[in-house]
Amino acid sequence: MSDNLTFEDRVIVVTGAGNGIGRAYAHEFARRGAKVVVNDLGGTVAGEGSNSATADAVVAEIIKANGHAIANYDSVVDGEKIVQAALHEWGRLDVLINNAGIAYATPFAEMTPDLWKRMLAVHVDGSYACTHAAWPQMLEQGFGRLLFTSSPFGLYAAANFAHYSAAKAAMLGLSKALALEGSTHNINANALAPFSASRMTGRTNEEQMTSPFGPRYLAQLAVWLCHQDTAESGGVFEVGGGYIHRVRNELSRGLHLPGEQHTAENIAAGVEVLSDFSESIHPDIGESWTIGKDVFGEDWSERF
Ligand code: NAI
Repeated sequence: MSDNLTFEDRVIVVTGAGNGIGRAYAHEFARRGAKVVVNDLGGTVAGEGSNSATADAVVAEIIKANGHAIANYDSVVDGEKIVQAALHEWGRLDVLINNAGIAYATPFAEMTPDLWKRMLAVHVDGSYACTHAAWPQMLEQGFGRLLFTSSPFGLYAAANFAHYSAAKAAMLGLSKALALEGSTHNINANALAPFSASRMTGRTNEEQMTSPFGPRYLAQLAVWLCHQDTAESGGVFEVGGGYIHRVRNELSRGLHLPGEQHTAENIAAGVEVLSDFSESIHPDIGESWTIGKDVFGEDWSERF
């Protein structure tokens, strides 16, 4: 089957593209014709240190395969510089994949402000900084594709990863809000919760190539989501090892205890009804605050 989801004349920034999942994205988009900014700070999995060799190696691989790529070594917290690298070289930016990430376990009792802030800086501030720098360009072009990287830990959490779980949950809100804001400008935003063999999960580049959970399984979904013909926006996908799941919100039908009935005792007595998902509701993006809508009507959000 031929590859018809091509990216000729498209410019893409992949953050954290020196290793693992980002490296696989950079290769696949370049193979499909995109001009790729390979961003990577080149630090450790825990986010210490830096080096330019990490991004350079991937750029060399892409050029050797007759692709187009340049390296950028800035931290994602300096997103403006990364976006400028794309604009300076190629004059536009069509796709931004916020992929850069770090990970380290920290029991909450040992969660110092430094350990907390280092984690949130890369994932939350970094994704904000890159996207905020790209946004005016995408608005001007009337075209943009954004991908955010959450995690199963962001969806379901993990003990000793309160910082990482919080940061990755933030990616869901950011992506969905921008899907709503971008909807009238042909700017789509989606979020992935990946699982993959990578440096972060202790696998070498060689092992990643042969692993049944290799990063190539993420690149194909990214290609589809970021293609100009794909309308999908506001989606959340759990993906890895050839599996792709769509994630959605689910509310139980719920308890309604108005007025005098609204007591802690009645909540305790109604917990079975509260937890009954047999008639559940699935609010889509932008349908936030189901109850608020019932009370205030469709235009509730205009009250803010
Ligand atoms: P990796 O460690 O193999 O690659 C991450 C890359 O990001 C590294 O090359 C690193 O130098 C770069 N990076 C880190 N901080 C940076 C910064 N401030 N500025 C620029 N580059 C920076 O990790 P992997 O597995 O490829 O992870 C990619 C993304 O996927 C991350 O956001 C990670 O949290 C997320 N993820 C990965 C999972 C997995 O199973 N591998 C599971 C869930 C989420």
